[in-house]
Amino acid sequence: MKKIAVLTSGGDAPGMNACIRAVVRTARENNIEVLGVERGYNGLINGEFVNDGKTLEHRSVSDIINRGGTILYTARCPEFATEDGMRRAIKTCQEHGIEGVVVIGGDGSFRGARDLSERGIPCVGIPGTIDNDIACCDYTIGYDTCLNTIMELVDRIRDTSESHDRCSVIEVMGRHAGYLALNSGITCGATSILIPEVPFDIEKHVIERMQKTMRAHKKHFIIIAAEGVGIDVKELAKEIEEKTGVESRATVLGHTQRGGYPTAKDRIMATRMGNYAVKLLMQDVGNRVVAAQKDEIVDYDIFEALNMTKSIDMELYNVAHEVSI
Ligand code: ADP
Ligand code: F6P
Repeated sequence: MKKIAVLTSGGDAPGMNACIRAVVRTARENNIEVLGVERGYNGLINGEFVNDGKTLEHRSVSDIINRGGTILYTARCPEFATEDGMRRAIKTCQEHGIEGVVVIGGDGSFRGARDLSERGIPCVGIPGTIDNDIACCDYTIGYDTCLNTIMELVDRIRDTSESHDRCSVIEVMGRHAGYLALNSGITCGATSILIPEVPFDIEKHVIERMQKTMRAHKKHFIIIAAEGVGIDVKELAKEIEEKTGVESRATVLGHTQRGGYPTAKDRIMATRMGNYAVKLLMQDVGNRVVAAQKDEIVDYDIFEALNMTKSIDMELYNVAHEVSI
């Protein structure tokens, strides 16, 4: 391959920039030109590139390894799922001599990459999402940073919660998945962790657990709810206050969770995955997803990857609830 493109798609995630840097530098070290597509698949449809469509060089990606967000910008682009959008994207690739594309995003983005690969433009997907909800991967770029950010934010809430003998009910992101909630719940010793993968009953899983710890003289509480459970945390705080008599406050952490400088783990994994993706394209291999399993980087057929399922570690869930009482 002589020329490839790189784009970020879906929600941004810390570490995407480290990945872009690795893609660009690996490509240039191997004499491949690389274009930076702006705003996900929108940029591919409309022919919008960084640097007016000139190839990115080593120095184009200097000083970004430490930055959250994505220098390529990102977007959700419903048009890409249409025949017309796909046709225009292919035309852009042909006009610019793009022979392969690295797509950094979540499984929606991989569906787009699969469609493009099927139409003759080999694509390699790299999992970039704070949600860690990609079935073929133990880990996704941005997840580690987000988890650490939630831990730090909840530590701050805990200071004030403890000072006032309160219960803090905190909603964390994760879309339909509970990985961020479960693991952040462990890091902050949450009395209850509510996730979409495990059915729960507020009376039994929240109120009774709080009452049990109150009998053991516990006076402040953290309750973590994944956004995927669809609970209004303000309403839940009110219910807790009414039923337990513990003054309660609700916090939705929101987008503060998604920004910030990436952790060492996210920088290292993003760098390895970016390098791996370009090596696949160099062998003319497309329609693949790069995946992290334990400490190893592997790859899967996109179709196969999209059909895989991933479940919550129930042992971990049980440990969390056995210890935080
Ligand atoms: P994520 O990649 O984080 O899961 P989305 O689900 O929003 O985020 O998907 C990102 C983008 O991928 C969408 O805006 C769209 O451009 C593209 N996409 C999603 N689903 C499909 C699909 N079925 N076919 C083609 N493109 C898709
Ligand atoms: O997929 C990443 C994510 O941050 C999810 O956790 C959350 O549900 C969603 O994106 C929020 O999307 P938006 O940025 O459109 O508000």
